[in-house]
Amino acid sequence: MSDSRLLTLTGVGGVGKTRLAVRVAAGMRRRFSAGVRFAELAAYQDPGSPAAVVAAAVGAPGAADRLVTEVLSNHLRDKQILLVLDNCEHLVDACAALVGQLLTQAPGLRILATSRQPLGLDCEQVLRVPPLCVPDFEQMPRSGDFGCYDAVRLFTERTFAAAPDFVIGPDNRVAVARACQLLEGIPLAIELAAMRLRALSIEQLLERLDDRYRLLTGGSRSSRPRHQSLRAAMDWSFGLCSPAEQRLWVRASVFTREFDKTAAEEVCTDNDLPRREVAGLLARLVDKSVLTSREDHFHMLDTIRDYGQDRLHGADERAGLRRRHRDWSLRRAARPDHAFEASVPHSIPAIVDAPTDNAELVAHQAKRARPPDASPLTLREQQVARLVADGLSNKAIAATQSIALRTAEGHVQRVLTKLGFTSRNQIAAWFAGRQPGRDS
Ligand SMILES: Nc1ncnc2c1ncn2[C@@H]1O[C@H](COP(=O)(O)OP(=O)(O)OP(=O)(O)O)[C@@H](O)[C@H]1O
Ligand SMILES: [Mg+2]
Repeated sequence: MSDSRLLTLTGVGGVGKTRLAVRVAAGMRRRFSAGVRFAELAAYQDPGSPAAVVAAAVGAPGAADRLVTEVLSNHLRDKQILLVLDNCEHLVDACAALVGQLLTQAPGLRILATSRQPLGLDCEQVLRVPPLCVPDFEQMPRSGDFGCYDAVRLFTERTFAAAPDFVIGPDNRVAVARACQLLEGIPLAIELAAMRLRALSIEQLLERLDDRYRLLTGGSRSSRPRHQSLRAAMDWSFGLCSPAEQRLWVRASVFTREFDKTAAEEVCTDNDLPRREVAGLLARLVDKSVLTSREDHFHMLDTIRDYGQDRLHGADERAGLRRRHRDWSLRRAARPDHAFEASVPHSIPAIVDAPTDNAELVAHQAKRARPPDASPLTLREQQVARLVADGLSNKAIAATQSIALRTAEGHVQRVLTKLGFTSRNQIAAWFAGRQPGRDS
């Protein structure tokens, strides 16, 4: 905030923007002779409301609606004041106009905004609030105390408050760490999960995290409506997207890893979503904290992906998407510069389920995709195992395979039984042990 008079904290819903803003503002209050004022906008829908809410927050004298901004500017003109403008995303244009005017007319004013989307002003400094850090089971031994991870610490604290009888110790430490990883370090999700431990064991919680939106409900009565459940938090973001942005969000949820613009253009477009719109829509989804981007690639949290998959309605749309995704996967897999393992897993169901013109390529890919030591598994089980290894939930597997959730659960259970495993991690490790090169 020393560089800019406007700092906006952005990030996915429930990641901790408001909490961070409150902490930062509290730490800075001595620097402002007129103090820190807090204006919360979440409950207001009218574009005229930011000015009125801010006026009330800073104690500006009452004024007729059309004069509020003017009176407010006058009131702030000679004050050293920090204004926290909380939850601007649904009124982003109105907030931008107000903030632009106030900053011009009140030189002693600084603004700390929180929003799932930046305000888009030139003078704005944007800080994306990342999720809390979680253990990465692919990079580390599956033991240890995990207490150095913020997500695990928060989970432990919230569990202690919500379910004091639940003891976290050596027997369940790994399961707790795994839960934090699946919750992707999102504090709201962690808090909702901790509440569930009043009634569930950690193993039951882990199993049910396959369907995080059904599990993560029942927030505390004191929390805001959009924090009562994970779905409500995502509904809020989804509702702020245009129909075209929503469509791309839903369709891009077919990618279970990073993807680039070309992939989105090849897989997600049709008459309803023309190719030429993709670049702009991707940029707007990044802006709205639905995607993150790194270099030319886009990434979607599982939490956001699962929401998108839940929203994928309509057999036609689903079939078209699967077909385009299969074709794209096969084209990519055929490219000599592309690692097979990185691109094919999600195409496997489609390879088998749908006829294709390129029978030779399909046969070749299917042969390469088959684990050499997988004789106990049927072809379908091998596909399911691969999707599990790739991190898909049972629900996501059911969606990509177009089978009932219960059928997907049955396949996963049979894979575990046949391989003598007890966890999905073991399936992932089994696949990781046969990377290309060792596999031929
Ligand atoms: N670092 C943290 N440590 C402990 N609790 C946290 C942390 N960050 C967030 N929380 C808790 O997680 C919940 C969600 O946080 P917060 O309201 O700040 O999210 P947000 O990003 O502002 O969400 P939204 O986009 O919906 O406004 C709150 O109950 C908050 O207290
Ligand atoms: Mg907030």
